[in-house]
Amino acid sequence: MRRLRITHTTAPEKQRAFLVGVEFRDPTYRAKHAQLPLEASLEELTLLCQTAGLDVVGQTTQHLDRPNPNTFIGPGKLEEIAAWRDALDFDVLVFDDELSPRHQREIEEFMGEGVIVIDRTALILDIFAQHARTYEGALQVELAQYEYRKPRLTRMWTHLARQAGGAAGRSGTGGVGLRGPGETQLEVDRRRIDERISRLRRELEEVRRQRALHRKQRKRSEIPTIAIVGYTNAGKSTLLNALSGAGVLAEDKLFATLDPTTRRVRLPHGHYVLFTDTVGFIQKLPTQLVAAFRATLEEVTEADAILHVVDVAHPFAAQQAQTVMDTLKELGASTKPMIIALNKADKLSPEQRQAAALGLLSEGIFISALHRQGLDELLTEIEAVLFERLVPIRVRLPYRAGDLMALLRREGLVESEFPEERGVLISGRVPGRLLETFLPYRAG
Ligand code: GTP
Repeated sequence: MRRLRITHTTAPEKQRAFLVGVEFRDPTYRAKHAQLPLEASLEELTLLCQTAGLDVVGQTTQHLDRPNPNTFIGPGKLEEIAAWRDALDFDVLVFDDELSPRHQREIEEFMGEGVIVIDRTALILDIFAQHARTYEGALQVELAQYEYRKPRLTRMWTHLARQAGGAAGRSGTGGVGLRGPGETQLEVDRRRIDERISRLRRELEEVRRQRALHRKQRKRSEIPTIAIVGYTNAGKSTLLNALSGAGVLAEDKLFATLDPTTRRVRLPHGHYVLFTDTVGFIQKLPTQLVAAFRATLEEVTEADAILHVVDVAHPFAAQQAQTVMDTLKELGASTKPMIIALNKADKLSPEQRQAAALGLLSEGIFISALHRQGLDELLTEIEAVLFERLVPIRVRLPYRAGDLMALLRREGLVESEFPEERGVLISGRVPGRLLETFLPYRAG
């Protein structure tokens, strides 16, 4: 992406990170907290750190009734972390939960020079910044970074500065290596941030308008679109590669994919569909990030169907799938036809496979995107859902919508129709790919 890219000739020394996870006993705070147990959430945070290029050297946890108003965790815990810093010489303290600007400031003050305090949000933003591959992606990340920074008025911690400062930051130059996107001055003025935010918003609107145009053209071509969704690292890019031979990036890191990539694929009986890879979903994705990535998720809301990829070999596969389902619901996309691919089945023992088939994900089809197993069955199911199997609908079509009426008769079945004042009330059946088209006319 634009000015966030920097090349360096010598590999910088990796920064050392220490993680902090908190579990709250007070249900008000627990509700805000993860769906994952603390340990699993920290494992995920470790993977996020690795993706961001940090070396995780240790972690600590605390159980609290509620956050400490000043320092988020208790003062005793902070003392303990300071002792760890002396022993482990870490440069970055990473909190699994979102810190308020005040918490961040207080903790930073306590830790003193040379230790930067960040939270999950800052870390995810940094990963997003490293991986945004299109102009739109870059704009989205930059906007989210400025919005995150605004109440903090600190410079942003990013990989760019880390690379630029690199080892220098650790060798006692005051941690200059941990500073924000291309900035040289010390204070960031709120008014300038506001101006930048407005400009980014305008640019984004323009890019989105263009994209909407493209999408319209695609719709006109009447090839149904399937959004590949799934928890991050579930294997979406690998699956898209396997299905289409497309050279989409697949890495064993979180969020390797940030921008939607679309590929045309021929189904077993000759129909064509477009598959769109989307950003990986994750628990505790801060709302401001969900908003920032609206464009990527728009692919989901615009799709005719959803292919939900689950890493069935993951110990928290069911929770991850639930996170994805909840997000789809928030996006208003949960009524679309959905096909569930139980990926990484190659990692399961026959007993585990049986257990998975009986559990929450019993509707899914076992596949291995990596070893290209189960893909024919998956494509056949997609074809059936989109083109062959008819699903019931009840719609009220206005009299002027003659083309829709014709479409329904041609592609589906009309079981009953009643002329009413506002239109014809129809009960019938349509192939899954047309559900979206008729959704706006749904009658109670
Ligand atoms: P994000 O971009 O983070 O959302 O990830 P993704 O869902 O696109 O996952 P990706 O395709 O990058 O795969 C993540 C890791 O899982 C890679 O190391 C893949 O090689 C591995 N993987 C994908 N599919 C399979 C599979 O069927 N079996 C096994 N064993 N590994 C797989």
